[in-house]
Amino acid sequence: MIAELDIQGRRIVVTGGTGFLGRYICEELQTWKADVRPVGSLDYDLCEQAAVRRLYADLQPSIVVHGAAACGGIQANEENPGLFLYANAVMGLMLLEEGRRAGLDKLVLMSTTCAYPQNAPLPFSEEHISDGPPTGTTGPYGLAKRLLHEACANYEKQYGLRSTVLVPSNLYGPGDHFDEQRSHVVAALIRRFVEAKRSGTEQVVNWGTGKPTREFIHVRDAARGVVLACRRETSSAPINLGTGQETSIRELSDMIMAIAGYEGHVAWDETKPDGQPKRYMNVDRAKKVLGFESRIDLRQGLEETIRWFENNL
Ligand SMILES: NC(=O)c1ccc[n+]([C@@H]2O[C@H](COP(=O)([O-])OP(=O)(O)OC[C@H]3O[C@@H](n4cnc5c(N)ncnc54)[C@H](OP(=O)(O)O)[C@@H]3O)[C@@H](O)[C@H]2O)c1
Repeated sequence: MIAELDIQGRRIVVTGGTGFLGRYICEELQTWKADVRPVGSLDYDLCEQAAVRRLYADLQPSIVVHGAAACGGIQANEENPGLFLYANAVMGLMLLEEGRRAGLDKLVLMSTTCAYPQNAPLPFSEEHISDGPPTGTTGPYGLAKRLLHEACANYEKQYGLRSTVLVPSNLYGPGDHFDEQRSHVVAALIRRFVEAKRSGTEQVVNWGTGKPTREFIHVRDAARGVVLACRRETSSAPINLGTGQETSIRELSDMIMAIAGYEGHVAWDETKPDGQPKRYMNVDRAKKVLGFESRIDLRQGLEETIRWFENNL
C-alpha cells in the first residue's frame, strides 16, 4: 500500500516552470487542483541567495518541484562544464537550505541519468548510482546533481526535510528545444529529417555509428511521474523515471525518417564520437514506490512530436 498525500489546494512551486518539462509538470499539477506556482529565471535567479530567500518569502510553498537546471545538449555541456557544475549545485543547495529554514515540507528533485557512473552495470539500477563518479562531457552536470542526491539525504537525516529524487531518462515531446545549441538527440534528428524533406536534400548525415542505445520517455509521462512523486511518501533514495526500453540511435533515426516521410539517403559519420555504448534503466523501483509506469509508446510519441514540429517550424 503506497501512502498518499492530498495535493488539492497545496501551494507547489515548480522551478524551471518556464522550461520544457516544467510546463508539463504545471499542467499535470493543475489537473490535481494544486495551487501551482511556476517560476523561471526572470522571476527568481536561483543562483542568487537573496532571490531564493525572496521566493520562499513571497510564495511560501509547501512543496518545491525543482526542475530548474543549467543544461543542454552535448555542445552546451562541452562549452559550459564550470557553469553547469556551479549553477546546478548552487541552485539545489540553496533551495534546500533556505527551504528548511522556511519550513518547506518536501522537495522533489529532477536529477538525470548523467548522474550515473559511465560503467554502471546495465540496466542502470539505483543502487549503483553512487558506485563511481559521473564522467565524460556531461560529468560536471551529473556530478552537481549527484551532490544534490546526497544533500537531499542529509537534509532529511538532520532536519527531517522530506525529498524525492527522480532520475529521468532522455525526455522528448512537443515543445522540446529544437535549436542546435540546446537540442538532444530526438529533437536534433526530427529537425534534420523534417528540414531535409522540405528542402529536398538528397542525403542526411548522422553522427557516429548509430549503434549506441538510449532510453526515451515522453515528457507527458515524465510529468505524470513527477506529480506521483508529489503525492506519495518516499525516502530520498533515487528513483529512475523511464520506460526501461532500450533503443539504438539507428532504430530511432529509422523511425523518425519514416514518420517524417524522408526518402533520401542516410549516411553515418563514424569519425564523430558515439558516447557511451549503452544506456537504459531498470524502472522497477518507480513502479513499486510511486505506482508509475510509462504509457506513451515511442512511435506514437514521435508521431505526435514530429507533427508538432512540422506545425511550429
Ligand atoms: N530534457 C531532458 O532530456 C532531461 C533529461 C533528464 C533530466 N532532465 C532534468 O529535467 C529538468 C528540466 O529539464 P528541461 O529539459 O525541461 O530544461 P529546460 O527546458 O532547459 O528548462 C530549464 C529551466 O531552468 C530554469 N533556469 C535555468 N537557470 C536558472 C536560474 N539561474 N534561476 C532560475 N531558473 C533557472 C529556466 O528558466 P528560464 O527559461 O526562465 O530561463 C527553465 O525554466 C532539469 O532539471 C534537467 O536536469 C532533463
